[in-house]
Amino acid sequence: ADRQAADLIIFGGTGDLSMRKLLPALYHCDRDGRLADETRIIAMSRGGLGDSDFRGKVDAEVRPALGDPEGWDRFARRLHHVSIDIGGPAAPAGWDALAALLAGHEDRDRIFYLASPPMTFGPFCHGAQEAGLVTPRSRVVLEKPLGRDLASAQAINDEVGAIFEERQIFRIDHYLGKETVQNLLVLRFANAFLEPIWNSLWIDHVQITASETVGTPGRRGYYDHAGALRDMVQNHLLNLLCLVAMEPPAHNDREAVRDEKVKVLQALRPIVGSEVDRFTVRGQYTEGTTATAAGDVTVPGYLDEPDSTRPTPASQRVETFAAVRAEVKNWRWAGVPFYLRTGKRLPTRRSEIVVQFKEVPHAIFPGAAPNRLVLRLQPSEGIELCLMAKEPGAGDVTLRPVPLSLSFAETFQSRVPDAYERLLMDVLSGNPTLFMRRDEVEAAWRWIDPIIAHWDGSAMLPEPYPAGTAGPAGAHELLARSDRTWHEEAPQ
Ligand code: BG6
Repeated sequence: ADRQAADLIIFGGTGDLSMRKLLPALYHCDRDGRLADETRIIAMSRGGLGDSDFRGKVDAEVRPALGDPEGWDRFARRLHHVSIDIGGPAAPAGWDALAALLAGHEDRDRIFYLASPPMTFGPFCHGAQEAGLVTPRSRVVLEKPLGRDLASAQAINDEVGAIFEERQIFRIDHYLGKETVQNLLVLRFANAFLEPIWNSLWIDHVQITASETVGTPGRRGYYDHAGALRDMVQNHLLNLLCLVAMEPPAHNDREAVRDEKVKVLQALRPIVGSEVDRFTVRGQYTEGTTATAAGDVTVPGYLDEPDSTRPTPASQRVETFAAVRAEVKNWRWAGVPFYLRTGKRLPTRRSEIVVQFKEVPHAIFPGAAPNRLVLRLQPSEGIELCLMAKEPGAGDVTLRPVPLSLSFAETFQSRVPDAYERLLMDVLSGNPTLFMRRDEVEAAWRWIDPIIAHWDGSAMLPEPYPAGTAGPAGAHELLARSDRTWHEEAPQ
């Protein structure tokens, strides 16, 4: 099904996401023979470029990162460019140019991929409809952020929903396309041994971490209005939480999986008022040292990041680190904390889910540490189960934690595809399972909003942490209060 001819229209087609992620992913899909011969990629931007200018730009900026890409010319021939300024005068000429390009191809799948800020989603969809370009075979892909709170997300959903049916709307969260994330479902539901112990009887707590070494240079315009909670927790981390916590769906299909995910979001215990101070932590990085391939370098704090947008007093309130102690109030998870954590300018780039099991009910050997299952999303995707073993030797029994580990790269000896390859192919074949349904996005905002409201009303600023350190002290305390530690702090 994914080899049907399609026209893929990328609005924001010369932007960062398109150049860094979408076009390389599409190239790989093409090289793997997954695009139909006639499929076209039509970038739209204000750029004033013709097709050949755009091809030249992609050649200069995308191709080098792909090494010596086989079949590049074939890929390049798929590329087109249409200039448009949807903020400009009514019915700008761009729509006519797009209409001319699409005319006669109404029978193809038509994908509008909006890789642009959320305030453009509504106007774009209206413009496309007025230009007569929305066909029954059209789909629209919305990039995050989907609004900045529940009300703005609903407004966007209403505007887009006035033109596209829910089945045509694909809200992307690229974390759902990562290999380990999909493997989490396979691990849970294609193996018999885990499910019986996947509950509060056996699991002490869960940690979900997305730690980044990058800062936010050049992103102030976006990040000052977002912050780590909106940028990472509302979408990526909550999606991971849902996949860990959800009940087994009856089918691996579009609605069954999403029905179970949304139930998890609806079961999240709200964190409101003064509880926000107890169950959440926010931080902002200050100047510090970060390790790079070229050695340690000093990097500026958030407020001093080089940017064309100058910091305002509000910039001081933006969190570049967030940690939350969440709880899923249902039979399976009662009393099991889910600790979520993410931050910029931390010491390592690492995303992982750690499922920490309870201690053995009765210890006959001293020194037994509880088991731990680690699902590593990046940098190298893998799964590790930490078991207790006996150290070889004839003397006293000495226990040592040892990993049973699976590295995807070593085991499967194949290239791990980027999340966007998977998701773009799903859009092209019309499979929305790994995309966010309207009720999911809104349930996630409903839980996030009171936390942000409390932060906004608080006189306190985010706790400072020097770049290159593990985040603010409060994050450590969030777990230490109940005698727990973050994974990397635990004795190895
Ligand atoms: C994006 C955020 O959604 O995810 C960025 O806007 C973040 O701030 C990025 O850096 C992280 O993605 P990945 O795949 O590198 O973990």
